[in-house]
Amino acid sequence: MGTWSERIGLERPIVQAGMGGGLATAPLAGAVSAAGGLGTVGIMPAPAFGPELRSARDLAGEAPLAANLLLPFVRPAHVAACIAHRMRVVVLHGGLSGPIVTALRDAGIEVLQQVGTVDEARRALRIGADGVIVQGTEAGGHTYARRPVDAALADVRAALPSPVPVLAAGGVNEAADVRRLLDAGADAVVVGTRFLATPESRAHPGYKRALIDGRDTVDTLLFGFGWPMRHRVLRNAAVDRWCAIDERGPRAVRILSRVSAPIGGALPLSLMAVYPRVQRPWLPVLTPGPPLEGGGGDRILRASALYAGQGVGAIDRLVPAADLVATLAG
Ligand SMILES: Cc1cc2nc3c(=O)[nH]c(=O)nc-3n(C[C@H](O)[C@H](O)[C@H](O)COP(=O)(O)O)c2cc1C
Repeated sequence: MGTWSERIGLERPIVQAGMGGGLATAPLAGAVSAAGGLGTVGIMPAPAFGPELRSARDLAGEAPLAANLLLPFVRPAHVAACIAHRMRVVVLHGGLSGPIVTALRDAGIEVLQQVGTVDEARRALRIGADGVIVQGTEAGGHTYARRPVDAALADVRAALPSPVPVLAAGGVNEAADVRRLLDAGADAVVVGTRFLATPESRAHPGYKRALIDGRDTVDTLLFGFGWPMRHRVLRNAAVDRWCAIDERGPRAVRILSRVSAPIGGALPLSLMAVYPRVQRPWLPVLTPGPPLEGGGGDRILRASALYAGQGVGAIDRLVPAADLVATLAG
């Protein structure tokens, strides 16, 4: 069959990023898939993941649906849920795992690995991934990005044989961005920040306000306790306090993050979700859990990770997810 979108069964080449920790759940993913894009449920604690995929499936009907798995936190139950609830695509990020790729592909699921460079893309294909999502430095959330999205896409597209799907992520805000990246050889685009600013995302209401008001993001390691991977966030009190001299955060904090990685991977994700409620800007032991709807008052916004991409300045209001799919598709 023709294009990647046609093979997957998409009406529009727009993929909503599976933003983890409870941000992208069934209402968002279901609405995007029902509107002809590819909705993606982000990783959440294993016992809640299967029911969430089932709810998304109910909302999406027979439209294709995706799930996102962050490697440090994946449990066998996550993989089993993706298979049981007939995910069409699974996106992997934050590490490589041959056995997980094989288990998903054996179940007929298309596996995409999120990468930043040609070397990472080649490694993903070597362990069996069907294709890659290449992140540009504009991207919000956790990132491997090294170059702006146009340059990163050009590198990876040129290096991989043409039937291999290459999707582009980072800074997609409007139809012109989608058109430009498709013209440059992307099989589809992946959009995160823009889908966070929808009524359907489960971001804390104050976080949504910050997306509308915010302009300035930093590429940091500050919120790395338990998961020492680079991430792009909006400025808040914790960032202002600890990243004034070095955007990455103080060296001691980065060392603490590195040594805490095994703790983060071993703890249940439910604990990682609770911890941000007790974080304070003056204590630089800051975990990656984002502030969620129902997660307490606005104080949580001062010391938790407000993930956002460089394109956040283009957001001036919340737009329903289905409208956003239609607008981006042009
Ligand atoms: C709030 C937020 C959370 C994210 N969480 C994840 C995640 O759990 N897994 C993942 O693969 N990518 C995650 N990403 C990265 C996206 O997959 C994607 O690369 C990025 O959002 C694209 O850039 P954009 O934000 O400019 O659209 C996240 C991005 C944001 C903004």
